[in-house]
Amino acid sequence: MALLPIITAPDPRLKKVCAPVEAVDDEIRRLMDDMLETMYNAPGIGLAAPQVGVLKRVIVVDVAGEDEERAPLFMANPELTWVSDDDSNYEEGCLSLPEHYGDVVRPAAITVRYLDRENEIRELKAEGLLATCIQHEMDHLEGILFVDHMTALKRNMILRKLLKAKKADKPLASYATA
Ligand code: NI
Repeated sequence: MALLPIITAPDPRLKKVCAPVEAVDDEIRRLMDDMLETMYNAPGIGLAAPQVGVLKRVIVVDVAGEDEERAPLFMANPELTWVSDDDSNYEEGCLSLPEHYGDVVRPAAITVRYLDRENEIRELKAEGLLATCIQHEMDHLEGILFVDHMTALKRNMILRKLLKAKKADKPLASYATA
């Protein structure tokens, strides 16, 4: 396994719609494993392939707490097959928007269908932080960042700060999440 560099916004690769994978083969499994290691190392609770420059519909998620056993989820071609009418509001962060956080409203519960690490079709019902995290990662596959759910004013403020930090080549501490 290998650590992959995480792309930070603004970057055109974070705004692309990603392509489905044909199957979860050895190449995709290696990508998933590298992404998981990169996510744990960041540390984060979710990571999408475009965040490491791979424009494919692959995400990894693990929302287990520090004292809990690891519970990684590997998903290729995730699709929502159901969303709840109830919404929830979480303060989200993103490994591609280091040091920035913001409230995002999303469906509180979801059912997601995907291909797992063994190329098996799975369906998972999720709620709470897991539901939020999966939706956040799925957004990345459409080129959508959590700041795109916020007002233009707030979004532009954050992106301007990130651009400035990037130009100054300032190393950013990453307490961010996904
Ligand atoms: Ni993110």
